[in-house]
Amino acid sequence: MSDLLRVDDVHKSYGDEEVLKGISFEMDRGDVDVLVGPSGSGKSTMLRCINRLTEIDSGEIYLDGENVTTPDTDVNALRRNVGMVFQDFNLFAHLTARKNVTLGLRKVKGLDKAEAREIADAQLERVGLLAQAESYPAELSGGQKQRVGIARALAMDPKLLLFDEPTSALDPELVGEVVEVMADLASEGMTMLVVSHEMGFVRSAATDMFVLDDGKIVERGAPTDLFENPEHERTKSFLQGLNSAHGGDG
Ligand SMILES: Nc1ncnc2c1ncn2[C@@H]1O[C@H](COP(=O)(O)OP(=O)(O)OP(=O)(O)O)[C@@H](O)[C@H]1O
Ligand SMILES: [Mg+2]
Repeated sequence: MSDLLRVDDVHKSYGDEEVLKGISFEMDRGDVDVLVGPSGSGKSTMLRCINRLTEIDSGEIYLDGENVTTPDTDVNALRRNVGMVFQDFNLFAHLTARKNVTLGLRKVKGLDKAEAREIADAQLERVGLLAQAESYPAELSGGQKQRVGIARALAMDPKLLLFDEPTSALDPELVGEVVEVMADLASEGMTMLVVSHEMGFVRSAATDMFVLDDGKIVERGAPTDLFENPEHERTKSFLQGLNSAHGGDG
């Protein structure tokens, strides 16, 4: 099995509401796949199931050939391998940027202080924030906070990075710096599964776009194909929504 990620017929309900209704897809190493779909269609739930912040009801998820949805899966190991970047950054306010990045290296990976600092500084430099290593989140812009969030995820050397609307909490003028970091990672070969409506990123970096509607993937394909020739109504209305919201410049 060569896929890095294989999601196979995943179902998830909250109470009576079935939120994921049999989701299946695969990702190869280096793929950058983007999930789009209306609010409530299950995008965040799908991401959270992959690193088991949310437990699935049925189906299977394989990472690097290993079923990670069994009761005896090492969830900590899974989360080392699958990093996550959140919309609201999830940084610790009382820790500096550097400490936010070293925390997991120390506690989860068990590195000593010097080793953790070396890796943290390398990743902060990668996202252009080494000069801010001693700053606290309150002293950083939203774009800088999110880049710390990305550095923190990268520091664990994950096989797969999940991004859940990483730019939606940002002022418009700060979106670009985060998208730029994500595009750099994509071009370096990082495997990324991204929930985002940043169509500039999708066009330039995405391998495939998945259109989710009501808990199902209703259309998938290369972004240029979907943009030029959308087949499903949901894809069409999604693209129309982008045009009316952003004046058609994507
Ligand atoms: N912990 C939870 N408990 C109960 N219902 C939940 C929970 N998390 C999500 N849901 C419900 O599951 C559905 C899918 O939610 P999800 O957050 O995955 O959607 P989404 O596509 O990410 O939406 P958005 O674009 O608004 O972020 C929604 O109806 C939501 O209310
Ligand atoms: Mg969501």
